[in-house]
Amino acid sequence: MIRVESLVYGYEDERALDGVTAEFKEGGFVLLLGGNGSGKTTFLRHLNGLLLPDEGNVYVDGVPTDEDDEHARRRVGMTFQDAASQVVAETVEDDIAFGPENLGLERDEIQRRVDEAAEAVGATELLDRSPYELSGGELRRVTLAGVLAMRPDVLALDEPLAGLDYDGERSVVERIVEENEKGTTVVVATHDATPFVEYATRAVVLDDGRVVEDGTPDELFSGGVEEYGVRTPWAYR
Ligand SMILES: Nc1ncnc2c1ncn2[C@@H]1O[C@H](COP(=O)(O)OP(=O)(O)O)[C@@H](O)[C@H]1O
Ligand SMILES: [Mg+2]
Repeated sequence: MIRVESLVYGYEDERALDGVTAEFKEGGFVLLLGGNGSGKTTFLRHLNGLLLPDEGNVYVDGVPTDEDDEHARRRVGMTFQDAASQVVAETVEDDIAFGPENLGLERDEIQRRVDEAAEAVGATELLDRSPYELSGGELRRVTLAGVLAMRPDVLALDEPLAGLDYDGERSVVERIVEENEKGTTVVVATHDATPFVEYATRAVVLDDGRVVEDGTPDELFSGGVEEYGVRTPWAYR
């Protein structure tokens, strides 16, 4: 459903992605791993057309993102590493409604989606609150709801556990796994695979803007990936 071919992308004079090829199949749960600066965020932002390739191509359902980034944005919902930077409204309800409103949906349909998405992440109780007053874990779940309300086929999540305590981590991981079980394809960029590894069908490791490993978690972690700045999950030590 997503195909990335020889993707090259640079910021000013720095090459952040240096010929990345990868494919994401429907329903998978893929970890995108690598140390700081390896290119995870830059790569993820290409999947929904937020960034467009300098060279190479990203196809979403066969449609190149540089021909139709709108298509990519509808199909691939992304949450940012910094959840607070994704907040756009004064209440949680309005915040979750923002995406569906931009899709130009009817009021009733928007309300239905907001309620459903809030329910899915356990945020029904938070709808009247200000996003700025939430705990880290609550805010992560709310930004996830905002993306789910657009009913994407793919969730691209950038460090979704950053800044969370153990309870927050657990509740966010559970919501992500539930969405994957409903059939949504999941791509998670993370420097630490541990909380996700039992659910992942595949892991791709980036190093210095290149794919250095691509396989099942068993294949990857039994070989060892610490040289790429990725910690080996406990289950494999
Ligand atoms: N907005 C930016 N401007 C300039 N360089 C950037 C920017 N964002 C990222 N980079 C550089 O691109 C490379 C990849 O960064 P990034 O995709 O954020 O990696 P990761 O998410 O794995 O930490 C790094 O060398 C980083 O310094
Ligand atoms: Mg990053």
